[in-house]
Amino acid sequence: MTEKSTPTNVKKLASDLLLNAASPTEAERIIKEIHTGFQEITGLTGFDTKLEHLAAVPTAKGAALGLNHAAQCLLDFKRTTKFLTSVVAAIRNQRAAHPDQTVEVFYAGCGPYAPFVTLVAPLFEPGEVRFSILEINEHSLVFAGKLIEDLGLSGYLRAQYQADATAFTVPAAADYHLLISETLDALLYRECYVPILLNLLPQFRPGITLIPENVVIKAKLEPTPGSPLQAEELGIIIDVRKSVAAGNGDRTIPAQLPNVQVDFSKYDMTTYQRMLLETHVHVSQDNWLTTNESSLTLPLGLELVQPFTYRCMVFTYLMEPSIELTFKLED
Ligand SMILES: C[S@@+](CC[C@H](N)C(=O)[O-])C[C@H]1O[C@@H](n2cnc3c(N)ncnc32)[C@H](O)[C@@H]1O
Repeated sequence: MTEKSTPTNVKKLASDLLLNAASPTEAERIIKEIHTGFQEITGLTGFDTKLEHLAAVPTAKGAALGLNHAAQCLLDFKRTTKFLTSVVAAIRNQRAAHPDQTVEVFYAGCGPYAPFVTLVAPLFEPGEVRFSILEINEHSLVFAGKLIEDLGLSGYLRAQYQADATAFTVPAAADYHLLISETLDALLYRECYVPILLNLLPQFRPGITLIPENVVIKAKLEPTPGSPLQAEELGIIIDVRKSVAAGNGDRTIPAQLPNVQVDFSKYDMTTYQRMLLETHVHVSQDNWLTTNESSLTLPLGLELVQPFTYRCMVFTYLMEPSIELTFKLED
């Protein structure tokens, strides 16, 4: 940051980022400037080799990203821009719907920079919005607390909890209007978005605004190069919100989601080279992170070794013993 980070600077940079959300180069420049300022205040380099900065933190389900990686999420430019745009819009919508109330935001997995507090709060008056932050990594929570304080934003903070969001009971949960939890990775691998929603959503008011609103994993077949065929959509493998809604709402976290079977019998599989698994993050309303826009939406290609004679593929999203999407081919 060319000038020292102050609430005024951060407010200007956050406003500039919102105005320039459609210009990737400008958004990248602004986020880099914010990142440098946050590094100066916290003293975090992102490359610190202390174990507590590197290690992933085990949770009751899956793992939480190590502190360095959590800090670097800020530099996932389209992700940060789309999330910021969505969070600000959601708060404005809640303010319009409840003009006499302070909008209460619960932020599960804030990381060391708590960007959806530190970039968002300066855009509102104290009293218009308040944040409760929760983080499993105690070091991240300390950094986030320091950054919020040094930026003069403590008045926007209602509570901070060091806890595992897959098991946490939220005090006064009915107060909250907005839940943020960017606890994701591509293919919903390892991180806790699904068990966090299974635990937290039943505690909040029905219809609470959630950011990201949903994550959908889709499969498609890609033809061999030179083939006149188009890619063939095989459909949805996981729709997180549908899976959470299908649960019994008692906050228990099953060992797995129901299996999904993809049947190959209606396709000429000799004409396809690989299957692509794509993660689509529905941030809010018409705001999506699509394939390759972010580290969260990197696709996985599975080569189809010919002759490919399998009848179907069965996908299972496991939450025990670890969080991952597995698949097996069946004859
Ligand atoms: C992908 S990082 C995002 C950090 C920050 N919110 C951002 O957007 O830049 C996810 C954060 O969630 C935290 N986290 C992951 N699983 C968690 C859990 N079960 N309970 C609480 N925090 C968790 C991680 O420690 C990490 O700091």
